[in-house]
Amino acid sequence: MELAVALDHISFAYQDSLVLKDICLAVKSGEFIGMIGPNGGGKTTLLKLMMGFLKPSSGDISIFSEPPASSLQQISYVPQSLRFDKQFPISVMELVMGGRLSHLPWYGIFSKKDKEIALHALERVGLVDFQHRSFGNLSGGQAQRALIARALASEPQLLLLDEPTASVDAQAESDIYNILKGLQSQITIIMVTHNLRAAIELVERVICVQQTAISLKPQEVCEHFAFGLYHAPLINIKS
Ligand SMILES: Nc1ncnc2c1ncn2[C@@H]1O[C@H](COP(=O)(O)OP(=O)(O)O)[C@@H](O)[C@H]1O
Ligand SMILES: [Mg+2]
Repeated sequence: MELAVALDHISFAYQDSLVLKDICLAVKSGEFIGMIGPNGGGKTTLLKLMMGFLKPSSGDISIFSEPPASSLQQISYVPQSLRFDKQFPISVMELVMGGRLSHLPWYGIFSKKDKEIALHALERVGLVDFQHRSFGNLSGGQAQRALIARALASEPQLLLLDEPTASVDAQAESDIYNILKGLQSQITIIMVTHNLRAAIELVERVICVQQTAISLKPQEVCEHFAFGLYHAPLINIKS
C-alpha cells in the first residue's frame, strides 16, 4: 500500500534549538491519525515540514512518494480559525472557492465544476444555507467548518488539521469530529488535538510528539498516559 507520509530520521532546529529529533513515521494512505503532545512539543512544526514550508535539518520526507513541494496540490491544511482574519470581507462561498485556486487554469476563471465541488464541500460540513453569509459573521464552530470546507474543496488526498476544535464549543467540536469521521478512509487525515478522549475514540492511531514521536494504538494511550509522560493521566477526563 502506498504511504501517504514517510518521515525518515527527521530532525529539525529553529536556529540552535532542536525541536524535532530523529523522527521516523509512516502513515498509510487512508489512515486517520491523531497527533497529541505538550505545547511546544513540535506538532505544528511537524505539519509544516510535511507541507514543505520548512526543510528538515536532516532526514528525508516524502508525501505520496514525492518530496513535499511536489505534493502540495494533494495536501490541505486547516488552521485554527482564531489565527484566520475574520474581518476579511468575504462570503462563505468565496472562502470555500479559495480551495479551488490551485486548480485554476491559466486564464483564471472558475468553472461550473469548481462551483459544484465547492457546494458539495459546503454540504459535507452542513453550511449550504450559509454560503452567501459573510465569513466574519459566523460563529467559531461555523467558521471552523467553513475552513474545513475550503480545505475539502481542493480535493486533497492528505488533510492536515492543527487543533481544529481549539476555539469552538462542545457541540461544534462534536460536529467537526462527525465531519472528519465521514471522511475517514477516503482521505488520509492527520489531526493535532488536545482532546485525548476524541483522539482515542475517533482515530486509528495516535502519535505523541515531544521532540521525538511515539506511535500508539488508541487503547495503548490510556496506559501510556497513566505514566504522566505528556499530559495528566487520562483518568482525570474519564467520566
Ligand atoms: N518560527 C519559530 N522560530 C523559532 N522557534 C519556533 C518557531 N516556531 C516554533 N518555535 C519553537 O519550536 C518549538 C515547537 O513549536 P511548535 O511546533 O509550534 O509546537 P506545538 O505545535 O507542539 O505546540 C517551541 O519551543 C516553539 O517555541
Ligand atoms: Mg501547535
